Amino acid sequence: MKHAHQNQCLDRTERNCSEDTAKKLSTIFLKYRKDKDDLLSILQDIQDEFGYLSEEAIHLLSKEIRISENEIYGVATFYAIFRFEKPAEHRITVCMGTACYVNGADKILDEAEQKLGIKTGQTTEDGKISIGHVFCNGCCGHAPVVVVDNEVSGGWTPTKLDKTIDKLKEGSP
Ligand code: FES
Repeated sequence: MKHAHQNQCLDRTERNCSEDTAKKLSTIFLKYRKDKDDLLSILQDIQDEFGYLSEEAIHLLSKEIRISENEIYGVATFYAIFRFEKPAEHRITVCMGTACYVNGADKILDEAEQKLGIKTGQTTEDGKISIGHVFCNGCCGHAPVVVVDNEVSGGWTPTKLDKTIDKLKEGSP
């Protein structure tokens, strides 16, 4: 027998809410009371599970705890930690802190932007790779530092980044 949340979700085909998504949301909702006080914790759990707060997740959460979607967006947008767009499959983050910058981080970032045809903060159209930057990863002795997905490493060059992007595109990190 399908859980009530799954049925709600499956009824809303215009939001493309899959059964798998509904199941995961149900599991999260069951951990909490149907209470406004739990809103932040639930939002955090949803983001941990899916990587972002999707429209369908907000919609179902709104029904679950009887708060309007607008109110949920109002709370979520107040906190910088929440994302509303699906993260890219791979994330390249170039450190632009002083130590990395003087060791050529700007050229590495330029290479990433040119090769992928996007700007920092953007994701390729196929959703495969995004580029970001930070201002110090705390390992300045290895400058220039780049984070590929969650792996931090140093000694980067534009050529190394170029090859890494090719591998990510091929699907082999
Ligand atoms: S400036 Fe890049 S790791 Fe510190």
